[in-house]
Amino acid sequence: MKLAIIGYGKMGHEVERVARERGHEIVSIIDINNRKDFDSKGFMSAEAAIEFSRPDSALKNFKECFDRNMPLVTGTTGVWYKHLDDVRETVINNKLTFFYASNFSIGVNVLFAVNRFLARIMNGLPQYNVEIEEVHHVHKLDSPSGTGITIAEGIINNIDRKRRWVEASGVSSDDLVIHSLRDGETPGIHEIVYESDVDVIRVKHDAKNRSGFALGAVLAAEFIRTKKGFFTMNDMLNL
Ligand SMILES: NC(=O)c1ccc[n+]([C@@H]2O[C@H](COP(=O)([O-])OP(=O)(O)OC[C@H]3O[C@@H](n4cnc5c(N)ncnc54)[C@H](O)[C@@H]3O)[C@@H](O)[C@H]2O)c1
Repeated sequence: MKLAIIGYGKMGHEVERVARERGHEIVSIIDINNRKDFDSKGFMSAEAAIEFSRPDSALKNFKECFDRNMPLVTGTTGVWYKHLDDVRETVINNKLTFFYASNFSIGVNVLFAVNRFLARIMNGLPQYNVEIEEVHHVHKLDSPSGTGITIAEGIINNIDRKRRWVEASGVSSDDLVIHSLRDGETPGIHEIVYESDVDVIRVKHDAKNRSGFALGAVLAAEFIRTKKGFFTMNDMLNL
């Protein structure tokens, strides 16, 4: 496939490496200093763009792609999630192609599925409190992580006694606490911890490097090649 990369930081470089390894051609790389290249022949020749930029740049980049009818895969996390419903509406109304994931790792998406399943069981076992712990590198801009929020939503949607996620220690028993730590160059650790007076159940994903995220994003670009619509990892992995 001919692919464009938007955001050429840690993830952009990893996407480039993985995409080339899978036989794809990188026809355009856009970062903050060459945004005029959205109008380049290279960009316009792409069959899909893969975007990993900054939380506050994501929506601008989506618009550049939507205006050019460019299929888009995005992994950028953070503030733009508040506009998710608007983005979905724009995509559907204009018959565009859009794929987003708060985490492209296959393993983390298995964790999401296990999390939902476990939460349904734990809904009937009120002796367990639940908390989430996430650890990332010190350069990460958003907190809690998009993955932490997705895990929290999986719990809140399935456990009646948890109503909202909070970052500090919970003030109310229906708060679900997410502990966010920033440490060195850690690519990403997420852990769901259920605790009662007599035991602790921990379910944990620990990313060894960024390759798994990049591979998931490239697989997503391959997945949307002939499709129109709004897609997530659930569509691709059928978990
Ligand atoms: N969904 C996932 O699986 C996943 C995995 C890892 C990281 N992320 C997220 O991806 C994003 C990027 O992560 P990273 O580690 O590569 O960050 P990074 O800081 O290394 O790279 C971001 C790049 O985006 C560029 N950029 C900033 N504004 C831009 C703009 N307006 N147009 C084009 N490029 C612009 C920066 O110059 C930089 O090169 C973050 O939001 C991070 O949380 C998601």
